[in-house]
Amino acid sequence: MFRRPIFAANWKMNKGPSDTQAFVKSFLSKLTGRPACDIVIAAPFISLPTLSESLRDARGVEMAAQNCSQFDDGAYTGEISVKMLREILVRHVIIGHSERRSIFGETNAVINAKMKKAREAGLKLIFCIGETLEERNAGILENVLRTQITEGLAGITAEDMDDTVIAYEPVWAIGTGVTATAAQAQEAHAFVRSVVTELYGSEIAQKLRIQYGGSVKPNNAAELMACPDIDGALIGGASLEAQSFVDIIVNGCPAD
Ligand code: 13P
Repeated sequence: MFRRPIFAANWKMNKGPSDTQAFVKSFLSKLTGRPACDIVIAAPFISLPTLSESLRDARGVEMAAQNCSQFDDGAYTGEISVKMLREILVRHVIIGHSERRSIFGETNAVINAKMKKAREAGLKLIFCIGETLEERNAGILENVLRTQITEGLAGITAEDMDDTVIAYEPVWAIGTGVTATAAQAQEAHAFVRSVVTELYGSEIAQKLRIQYGGSVKPNNAAELMACPDIDGALIGGASLEAQSFVDIIVNGCPAD
């Protein structure tokens, strides 16, 4: 089954509005040709309006938020609601990133509440999962992924899955320069797809795009993207520089 690849930059807590504007100008000038993939940029909340403005004439590049609140509105100091994100034309939201889980204490239940809230508002989900090195070494990789998937997707309907991407990001590969080998990544992606098959059936699982994240660089993108169950990438460090984000897209996804 053909799945259109999706490449998403996750800038994390980098690039305020002026850096965002400079990045987009440089990125669009370097992205010549039309790669046959979807392209998403997840900027800090405060940079999203500038990102929207800078991308106005760039058809095909969409915006993501890196987080959202599980609440509608009210006394939640420091939070941003899904309605606010919709108001500034954000289309996607990353939920469940390992940094949200480990640094900000987000549990599978909180992540699930955010996923449901985001879908109520029509936002598309980039749902992150992944194991730590200790979990992998302890041989519980599959249990960890199964639990994250099952609890994170609870109440997410088959229709919602059309607007959901799963990002498999092994925690030990994030920001470390250690990428999962193509074989390790493929094995985990195939497992993720098998769990989604159990939950939603094979038609939905076959349509689902599963991104790989964790030290994706221009020089490893092609090998990873050649794996049958890898359908794009979620890129941190290497997405901060326009040329390397372009190179990852071009190397990972040949032009139309
Ligand atoms: P790096 O590409 O910097 O390893 O980060 C991956 C990531 O966490 C993307 O969400």
